[in-house]
Amino acid sequence: MTPKSATARACANVALVKYWGKRDPELNLPATGSISLTLAELTATATVARAEAGEPRFRQDGRVVEGTPARRMEEFLDLVATRFGEDPLSVRVVADFPVAAGLASSAAIFAATAAAGAAACGGRIDLVDLSALARRGSGSAARSVFGGFVEWSRGDRDDGADSVATPLQGVGEWDVAMAVAVVNEGKKDVGSRDAMEHVARTSPLYPGWLAAQEDDLSAMRVAIARRDLERAGTIAEENCLRMHATAIAARPPVLYWAPPTLEVIALVRRMRGEGLRGWFTMDAGPQVKVLCAGADLDAVASRLAEIPGVSRVIRARPGPGVAILEGPCPWT
Ligand code: DP6
Repeated sequence: MTPKSATARACANVALVKYWGKRDPELNLPATGSISLTLAELTATATVARAEAGEPRFRQDGRVVEGTPARRMEEFLDLVATRFGEDPLSVRVVADFPVAAGLASSAAIFAATAAAGAAACGGRIDLVDLSALARRGSGSAARSVFGGFVEWSRGDRDDGADSVATPLQGVGEWDVAMAVAVVNEGKKDVGSRDAMEHVARTSPLYPGWLAAQEDDLSAMRVAIARRDLERAGTIAEENCLRMHATAIAARPPVLYWAPPTLEVIALVRRMRGEGLRGWFTMDAGPQVKVLCAGADLDAVASRLAEIPGVSRVIRARPGPGVAILEGPCPWT
């Protein structure tokens, strides 16, 4: 059957217990589990259709994507097409991530593309299975299939069928928020895929990172279930610093922080001393995301914006899971 066109939207997510290292790069299976918060303000919309011969297969924000990102997307589209027994597919992505914010958007893009691809092919797939499919595009995309707090399991099976995401707590159940301090640094970061492979191979701290993950995961599950922000924030900060410590100790080192990154960290600690509570986390870039109570978001965001090296602050709230905007819904 010829696939029709379908459109889906997904939100980005920020990990509070990070995914950093793989047990199988081919199937994109993580070395450990991870836990994240999906964010409503950062979304990607993907429209998947049958590929026209000779036409580029991946466009983002109106431009043809080339090189490694294009190859990676084409491989993923082929995987989706094979799964649903269809012709080659193409995708047009529109991301509402602020220009040059340097925020990892691959989670939202691959989650939206997986859903739109399944819909375009008229396929049936449940959301947990969809998370395993999205994972093949980018690991963190598995978590963007669901809204609110989400856990992505390591899984034990060699075929990865049990390395799926599941929701921990839905949107609206806990009034938390994230202030995203965008630090414009100019230099191109080492992407998370290459960095985590390099760190796992060369950092003497990597085994210690792996060994500490189970404790953070179980403590974070409890903190979320109890809506204990102080506990969740403390675990998130420690987990993030441990991840960056492995990267800094790699040979050669991978250092994502810019001077304003440290200024934000210092400010967040100072604010806590003054009674304005927030907890920081950073991923493969200099941006700092600050977890706080929903009621404190404006106050926290205003303080972060005072730092000269912070070009803007995005006020983000928990967001929904992937949704089909146009086309048949592949899940019920
Ligand atoms: C630091 O999901 O981008 O953001 O699976 O290789 O595509 P690939 O990696 P990716 O890695 C995200 C790493 C991180 C932490 C996290 O989101 O858990």
